[in-house]
Amino acid sequence: MRKKIVAGNWKMNLTMQEGAALVAGIVDGLPVLSDNKHVVIASPFVHITQTAKQLEGKEYIYTGAQNCYQESAGAYTGEVSASMLKSAGVAYVILGHSERRQYFGETSEQLAARVHLVLNNGMKVIFCCGEPLEIRDAGTENAWVETQLREGLFHLPASQMEHVVIAYEPIWAIGTGRTASTEQAQQMHAHIRAVMADVYGADVAATVPILYGGSCKPSNAAELFACADVDGGLIGGAALKAEDFLGIVQAMVDA
Ligand code: 13P
Repeated sequence: MRKKIVAGNWKMNLTMQEGAALVAGIVDGLPVLSDNKHVVIASPFVHITQTAKQLEGKEYIYTGAQNCYQESAGAYTGEVSASMLKSAGVAYVILGHSERRQYFGETSEQLAARVHLVLNNGMKVIFCCGEPLEIRDAGTENAWVETQLREGLFHLPASQMEHVVIAYEPIWAIGTGRTASTEQAQQMHAHIRAVMADVYGADVAATVPILYGGSCKPSNAAELFACADVDGGLIGGAALKAEDFLGIVQAMVDA
């Protein structure tokens, strides 16, 4: 049985004090999780040790990071390495978020290298993919997403896929209030799983969680998570309020 996961991506939001209060609120209201139902909080780099400390000893809720660099160490001012994240208590690293690709020019080649470093440091990857509006309008979103996955992620051997989570985030749905319909989400998630099956076989493809991201909120989480190939969510705006985030976590637990 593959895992269900709700991961909060805070992006560049919240002071240390606000972050501490948010994590405390989430921990306070957290429903019972299990080995198959995980929660991840991906706070900004400066928050990570604080977040990890607050989550220490708590089961099935993990500290995440929003990115990491593709070199192990050295003269890369301003960057953060996979081994630093691991030593700070990070369990999951988001890679290839559309904002990273778009505003910081991250390439598939860089992401492929980052994926290796994250996995080799004993953490799990949440690998993001998703098409811009013009690609959706042109009807070529399946090919677009397939290329992102083949170039950035599917260089991995099958043995490492158990440490991978995929997040499908259509760019036109991020922060816009315009959620993908359940049909659109399910169709793309099934496509992603079919491509994975083509590369790794059906057994591996059946075990990798595929999260949906893009204007996911308490009011639409249940219907999205009810889709056969939607295994949870990667949450932006609604991850910044404990009540909203917990509502989405509850929908995942109930799914
Ligand atoms: P929103 O939930 O704010 O649309 O953001 C989604 C996202 O980009 C999560 O990584």
